[in-house]
Amino acid sequence: MELHGVSKINDNGHLEIGGVDVIELTKEYGTPLIAYDTALIRERMRSFKQTFEKHGITAQVAYASKAFSCKAMIQLVAQEGLSLDVVSAGELYTAVQAGFPVKKIHFHGNNKSIEEIRMGVEAGIGCFVTDNFYEISLLEQVSKEKGVKIPVLLRITPGIEAHTHDYILTGHEDSKFGFDLGSGQVEGAIQAVKDSEHIELLGVHCHIGSQIFESTGFVMAAEKIYEAMNRWYHEMDYIPKVMNLGGGFGIRYTDEDDPLLPNQYIEEIIQAVKAKSEQFGLPVPEIWIEPGRSIVGDAGTTLYSVGSTKEIPNVRKYVAVDGGMSDNLRPALYQAKYDAALANRMNDEREELVSIAGKCCESGDMLIWDVELPKVKGDDVLAVFCTGAYGYSMANNYNRIPRPAVVFVENGVAKLVIKRESYEDLVRYDLSL
Ligand code: LLP
Repeated sequence: MELHGVSKINDNGHLEIGGVDVIELTKEYGTPLIAYDTALIRERMRSFKQTFEKHGITAQVAYASKAFSCKAMIQLVAQEGLSLDVVSAGELYTAVQAGFPVKKIHFHGNNKSIEEIRMGVEAGIGCFVTDNFYEISLLEQVSKEKGVKIPVLLRITPGIEAHTHDYILTGHEDSKFGFDLGSGQVEGAIQAVKDSEHIELLGVHCHIGSQIFESTGFVMAAEKIYEAMNRWYHEMDYIPKVMNLGGGFGIRYTDEDDPLLPNQYIEEIIQAVKAKSEQFGLPVPEIWIEPGRSIVGDAGTTLYSVGSTKEIPNVRKYVAVDGGMSDNLRPALYQAKYDAALANRMNDEREELVSIAGKCCESGDMLIWDVELPKVKGDDVLAVFCTGAYGYSMANNYNRIPRPAVVFVENGVAKLVIKRESYEDLVRYDLSL
């Protein structure tokens, strides 16, 4: 098992994140607790930005806030000078509350309501990533109401089959997202926006999927867009200023995963874009990307208290923790795999193969099917690694389990950024008969 970022094992044999002993963190904030290594988040963000800078490419790196959104996270994104991808009025509201520079916000979604569009326009966001013809008509309507011209990117589905889980694959033809490139829908959308005096067409967007390990899919998407751009240039006199290639850069959850480093994906994308613009004699556009998982995924660790165990001789030993699918839905939803360790006994020999169960009333509530650990005891703290993306953001109150607390840890200092939900929080919308 390889530790991430500035995590290490201290003299007490405890896991340390951001210079703080995680056992101290659990004493202060309780469990389950999600601890982020803030320095690692910063490092990931900088690595994406610096790769574009190194090649002299005008770029926007927009953090996909669906991976993990809260005010402190958005403020961190602002500190590092990134842009922000939001996908709902709720994510937009969080960004505005966090004081994020609104011009750097890009608003996504396949079914934005007119209220959401109004909210974005009133806030003065940078652009909408427009998904369908219905949305174009809503944008027209809001633009007329407010007397402003609305900047957009058109989301296109390039027909790429990326290698990932079916539910998180988005760039193929049979997808609910975007204008289809194969059937001429994109050209219809370009024409509609070009003809509109209310909408400004900045460029195109595509997102081929998530947790992708190879650069091939991104390179193929860029090539397909270039071939289309060549047609648009000759047939419609249109050259996009911006090419947004979305997010989806994979990370290492367990030793079975073998992703590229963040900057390696970008290097290959840049090479492909440069080669194609030379081939077609077209300008190099601004390249925008939207990484989520690759910025926060491996920076997050969930700390649980170990509780009951159940051993079925010759079958399996279950070790239950005080959370589960309520704070991490990914194993149940995508059969996602994680690695774990006993945070209070990092140096002890791993001598038994166990399965980590959650506390929810559902057999599928398993966090890890097979992991080797030292012989587990009642007062142990289990650290599950790489839970920083789509963990808290998909957390829920199944079984009325309160959502965990979240801390950011950096330079030996822990900062509580999301409070643990209380039982009162759980009943705050309930009304009596
Ligand atoms: N841009 C767009 C348009 C997206 O749809 C997504 C993710 C991203 C960027 C960020 O992708 P990332 O870099 O984080 O892979 N809940 C699933 C992931 C769903 C991703 C949805 N879209 C999971 O837990 O694996």
